[in-house]
Amino acid sequence: MAGSMVRVRVTTDKQRVHDFWNEAACGENLYLQGTDRQNYESQARKRYELEPYIAGFAGFDRARGKRILEIGVGLGADHQRFAEAGAVLAGIDLTERAIEHTARRLAALGLSSQLAVGDAERLDFPDGSFDLVYSWGVLHHSPDTPKAVSEVWRVLKHGGTAKAMIYHAWSLVGLMLWIRYALLGLRPWLSLREIYARYLESPGTKAYSVAEARRLFSAFSDVSIRIVLTHGDLLESMAGQRHQGPLLSLARKIWPRVLIRRFLPELGLFMLIEARK
Ligand SMILES: C[S@@+](CC[C@H](N)C(=O)[O-])C[C@H]1O[C@@H](n2cnc3c(N)ncnc32)[C@H](O)[C@@H]1O
Repeated sequence: MAGSMVRVRVTTDKQRVHDFWNEAACGENLYLQGTDRQNYESQARKRYELEPYIAGFAGFDRARGKRILEIGVGLGADHQRFAEAGAVLAGIDLTERAIEHTARRLAALGLSSQLAVGDAERLDFPDGSFDLVYSWGVLHHSPDTPKAVSEVWRVLKHGGTAKAMIYHAWSLVGLMLWIRYALLGLRPWLSLREIYARYLESPGTKAYSVAEARRLFSAFSDVSIRIVLTHGDLLESMAGQRHQGPLLSLARKIWPRVLIRRFLPELGLFMLIEARK
């Protein structure tokens, strides 16, 4: 499965991406029990328990007074943290549902942000507007990811920072999905790229090698990339809103987590990219 990767052949468009995430925002079915303040707080606690690296990467504690745009706010937990830290904040998402959740969450906490439904590929902000553009697990869902990255570059001030998590192709999540849908589905010719596009989350989801990610961010300087083993790679959580079943339950019981952490730390799904304009 390693080596050169075949282009995504699954046809996709933004409407299908929108419809997928508008049916349930990311983590909504698994971790959000209701829509009052307690429920949003409890979803955020679970999020940071499962993904403890988010806070350090996002730099919530260094956000005071900075002009920050978050692309793809989802349920709004990270957006809340930026608002609490005192950022001058704007947030967009492709779906009405995510913007409603985030607006409700912030209102329940007496926080504010300029929130709007919007498209990462056509940001409705002037050039050079932000000190930081932050986007966690979003840009790979948009059909034209290079266009979205070029928009991140455009709306950043000179010297501003982009922080984005996108999916890493050579991950244990990808391998498990390939075994489940290509090998056990008797279609071993399906490429890893097709597997991500069809089975991970919204239709057309992409994942990148480190070299591909560097090319994606080649207009930026000081690009640093870190791979993180996720709760999905380690089978430490529910695998996502699309994946359940006895095989997964069995794998969860026998998964060699200690060995994976020790010997395969580079096979994580999350690629954390920090880059300067
Ligand atoms: C996996 S969720 C991540 C949400 C949130 N950042 C989080 O970490 O929970 C992906 C989000 O990206 C949004 N999205 C996908 N394509 C987008 C686009 N072109 N512009 C803005 N948001 C987009 C989806 O609506 C969805 O809310």
